[in-house]
Amino acid sequence: MIKKVGIVGLGQMGSGITQVAAQAGFALLATDAGEEIISRGIKNITKQLDKAIEKGKLDPAGKEKILGDIKTTTELHDFADCDLVIEAITENMTAKKEIFSELDKICKPETILASNTSSLPIGDLASVTKRRDRFVGLHFFNPVPVMKLVEVVKTLDTSDETYSAAFEFAKAVGKSPVRAKDTPGFIVNVLLIPYLLDAIRQYENGLASREDIDNGMMLGCGHPMGPLTLTDFIGLDTTLYIADVFFEEFKDSHYAAPPLLRRMVNAGYLGKKSGRGFYEYIK
Ligand code: 3HC
Repeated sequence: MIKKVGIVGLGQMGSGITQVAAQAGFALLATDAGEEIISRGIKNITKQLDKAIEKGKLDPAGKEKILGDIKTTTELHDFADCDLVIEAITENMTAKKEIFSELDKICKPETILASNTSSLPIGDLASVTKRRDRFVGLHFFNPVPVMKLVEVVKTLDTSDETYSAAFEFAKAVGKSPVRAKDTPGFIVNVLLIPYLLDAIRQYENGLASREDIDNGMMLGCGHPMGPLTLTDFIGLDTTLYIADVFFEEFKDSHYAAPPLLRRMVNAGYLGKKSGRGFYEYIK
């Protein structure tokens, strides 16, 4: 029975997962690399809860209850009694493996470990632990409080018991989970990322203006965001990282990053988070 949930990483994804899990009544323990990043994550959650109050979807007492259920720490050792720990740090295999290796030693035997990775093999992350059967992928989408999907990823070793506990957890936080295999990009990113890369390639080749490409897909296909805006939203660095993982895996030009994307990332144009991507953003 999952009651206490640990979150490692309080960036955009981790703070979103913390928020939805606390809103669903779970006890949360969250950490990141240092007090400053932790307080930024909590500030983001507070901002989202304040917006919900403004819209009449939450009352001030509800906000205090949710924030009261979120404890933070700078010590991974405090995660020992969590029933589920979800890692949501940046996409770096070595860093993630270090965290899982530590968590495996610290957490009680029943604790389920999960990664929110968008592109790294879950089985590779599980391999540094002695609990491969209690290891699963829980891939949320951005912005977490809004997007209904969670891909629940089963590795070759994930036990049925672990998988169904993770699946039920995703439902309990108000999401609609889908069953995904441990293949690169799971279901959504293996379809989404080539589409974004094609849009960038077409833009680079002069097919149309950025606005017309985006409006074309929004107004012609009913997408909430055009592909260039969506790439800015996901992060150009994240998109490039995923494309490189896919290309390495499939060796298929379909997944090759367009030169423009790499040039922009190298120039520090990371999208919305850096203030400039295909569009400019006021920070
Ligand atoms: N956090 C929390 N809530 C947010 C939010 C955020 N960052 N951004 C918007 N919202 C909420 C708003 O408060 C609003 O809530 P309400 O309905 O209760 O009033 C609702 O979302 C709609 O927001 P807006 O009216 O301000 O703006 P839009 O209607 O343009 O919606 C959007 C914004 C939800 C981001 C929409 O444009 C959208 O769905 N875009 C596509 C996002 C997408 O495709 N995400 C997946 C990316 S891929 C991924 O995450 C996988 C990874 O591995 C790469």
